[in-house]
Parts: sequence; structure tokens; C-alpha cells
Amino acid sequence: MERSLVIIKPDAVSRGLGGAVLSRLEGKGLRLAALKMLHLDKDLARRHYAIHRDKPFFSSLVTYITSAPVVVAVFEGDGVVARIREAAGATDPANAGKGTIRGDYGLDIEKNTIHGSDSMETAETEIGLFFTEDEIF
Ligand code: RTP
Ligand code: MG
Repeated sequence: MERSLVIIKPDAVSRGLGGAVLSRLEGKGLRLAALKMLHLDKDLARRHYAIHRDKPFFSSLVTYITSAPVVVAVFEGDGVVARIREAAGATDPANAGKGTIRGDYGLDIEKNTIHGSDSMETAETEIGLFFTEDEIF
């Protein structure tokens, strides 16, 4: 079964939007399979976002994602990777449509409320950073 890793980012958790974001995804028929809250350390943040390590925004991204607790989840379902990316909307909330999670809740291109895996392969790598298989139901 296809799976995706979701991170509800610090901007959302700190504004009390954790439940609202989870509810949007469950409302689309996606099955919640694992859930935890944690405060990322810099090592885990750098590993999760390793693909961006040479980008100019990398250092700021690591500082932001480690600034406050996040909610991390695994969702499962047919086409879940693409369906979560669609529900999230464009990276920059200014370009994300109304009714998308980033369009409705995102603050700026960095503080954009939600992460969703970008492929099935990436999802499995990312899930392995945050969950053991016995934490996934
Ligand atoms: P994500 O990985 O978090 O789901 O977001 P994404 O695929 O839509 O965007 P990506 O290009 O992978 O960027 C990862 C995260 O880095 C921050 N970002 N900041 N300051 C900037 O120009 C900039 N660009 C990206 C965002 O938090 C973005 O979600
Ligand atoms: Mg990405």
C-alpha cells in the first residue's frame, strides 16, 4: 500500500492548526497509519532535507523546522503521495490555491504549514527517519 510522510510544520503546530491539517487529509479519505509529536534536532532536520543541503535556503530551513515542535504522520492510500501534494498546494502559499492547506494556512515560502513526500521512494526513506515499522498501523 502506498504511503507518504507528512510533517505539520512549526508554524502550524504553534498556531493550533495540527488537528485542522490532519482533519483535511482524513477528510480526503486518506488513512492515518502513524502519528507522533516531536521537536526535531538539527541532525534529523538535515537528514530529512538532505536533498536541499546546497540550496541558499538550507540553513534557514533547518533553523525553522527545529524552532518548535512538529507533528509527524504516515498516511496510506491509493495515490497518497500525489493526493497529499495536491491537498498541500504550491510551495509558496502566495501561489497555492484557495482551499489548499498552504493556500489557507501558510505564512510564507518557508513557513508553509505542511511537508508531504514527493515520491513513493522518498516517502519510504523519510518514513524510516521518523518511525519504526511497529509504530505504523
Ligand atoms: P516540502 O519538501 O516541505 O514538502 O516542500 P516542497 O516539496 O513543496 O518544497 P521544496 O522545494 O522541497 O522545499 C522544502 C522546504 O524548504 C522551504 N523553502 N524555503 N526560502 C525559500 O526560497 C524556500 N524554498 C523552499 C519550504 O519550507 C519548503 O517547503
Ligand atoms: Mg520537497
